[in-house]
Amino acid sequence: MSNIEKTLSIIKPDAVERNLIDEIKKIFLKNDLNIKESKKIHITKDEAAEFYKVHQSKPFYNDLCAYLSSGPIVVMVLEGNNAVAANRKIMGATNPKDADKNTIRKLYGISIDKNSVHGSDSSENAKKEIDFFFKN
Ligand code: CDP
Ligand code: MG
Repeated sequence: MSNIEKTLSIIKPDAVERNLIDEIKKIFLKNDLNIKESKKIHITKDEAAEFYKVHQSKPFYNDLCAYLSSGPIVVMVLEGNNAVAANRKIMGATNPKDADKNTIRKLYGISIDKNSVHGSDSSENAKKEIDFFFKN
């Protein structure tokens, strides 16, 4: 049975800086994730802190927020069958060293922090994250 849903994807500053936007978008399209919305933005550190607030108790939180606001990013709404899980699979593990072959993080990630992409981790968070960037 099909389960068409949406998820939020972000191309992070390390990948935008290396001109990987089109390469990464092609991977989504090849894997039947349609790009319903896409915009290139540069967020403030406070906005990054709000977006990543689930991680506020983590030791890497401050660096993570500084990093996501360090340069332009591309935020996208992807849609497809089981889009949340499908996108996580295409992204690969958080640490590029542990990511499966041909995943975005294996192909392009530099390190655990500069890992090229973000993807929502549940349908519930996908809705919240899409609203965060695309609610008028
Ligand atoms: O992005 P993902 O959902 O795979 O991982 P997360 O555990 O939700 O962590 C969010 C982001 O924090 C990661 O994508 C990394 O950029 C960063 N992070 C880090 O810098 N150092 C860690 N030890 C773990 C995560
Ligand atoms: Mg996460």
